[in-house]
Amino acid sequence: MSLIGTSDLVHDAAAAGSAVAAFNVITLEHIEAVVRGAEAAAAPVIIQISENAVRFHSGLVMPLAAAAAALARTSGYGVGLHLDHVTDLDLLRQAADAGFSSAMFDAGNLSYADNVARTVEAAQWAHANGLWLEAELGYVGGKPDAPASAHAAGVRTDRAEALTFVRDTGVDALAVAVGSSHAMTTRTAALDHALIAELAEALPVPLVLHGSSGVPDEELARAVTAGMRKINIGTALNIAYTHGVRQFLDRDPKTVDPRKYLADARTEMAQVVEHMLHTISKPVTAG
Ligand code: G3H
Ligand code: ZN
Repeated sequence: MSLIGTSDLVHDAAAAGSAVAAFNVITLEHIEAVVRGAEAAAAPVIIQISENAVRFHSGLVMPLAAAAAALARTSGYGVGLHLDHVTDLDLLRQAADAGFSSAMFDAGNLSYADNVARTVEAAQWAHANGLWLEAELGYVGGKPDAPASAHAAGVRTDRAEALTFVRDTGVDALAVAVGSSHAMTTRTAALDHALIAELAEALPVPLVLHGSSGVPDEELARAVTAGMRKINIGTALNIAYTHGVRQFLDRDPKTVDPRKYLADARTEMAQVVEHMLHTISKPVTAG
């Protein structure tokens, strides 16, 4: 199977009334864990690398992207590569050469007019270069550089504005604000399922849920039932990674070989991936 376009993965998920999970990776071990977890769940998956992760790797996108592509090719299931939360058009322009089939352009913290103008530019470039483009409207809070007001629990995407935004920008998918927030370390977010269903019904493109680490299992499954088609998960892997390392070093503080504790970190992340994939593929009766 190996590398599959994000567009195909999301389209197939939508046709099945399901969703595809997209996991944010920072290290090689994250990538290995996503591929292993997806194989264990016998499910397709998207590996995504954020602009922040690229910054962490000295601004170089290619090393991590090349590792992701190489590991994706070893998988028995479909794996997509997505460049996430891009604010820099120069980085977006590297996406196709780095092996990504899709990107999320993030101008969600700008005014509506500026968001449209920047996203149009991104979408035109993306489509001219064969990339599927996701954008954001409604601003999902909790990003590292977020203004304080964006953390407001009540931030929501407006249906009429979303419809106009999608028409005016030509994007292929829309990240919407429906109650989740980035980087939560507790799974306590409550989603607005009525709004998800309303947006799914109204919009001609698939919906994307960001900040899914903070969303409880049942809420995630209900979100898919209501029409979410791409579920972005990052922090949950970092919690598992850090837990694996901490547990190992607490047990054996003299260890200096990183392979010892990174093996545990990788195993714990793979278990999270498998669990999340099972969670979002479970059918839920609406209620
Ligand atoms: O785009 C990435 C996701 O929105 C990840 O959010 O780290 O809160 O799971 P999360
Ligand atoms: Zn996000």
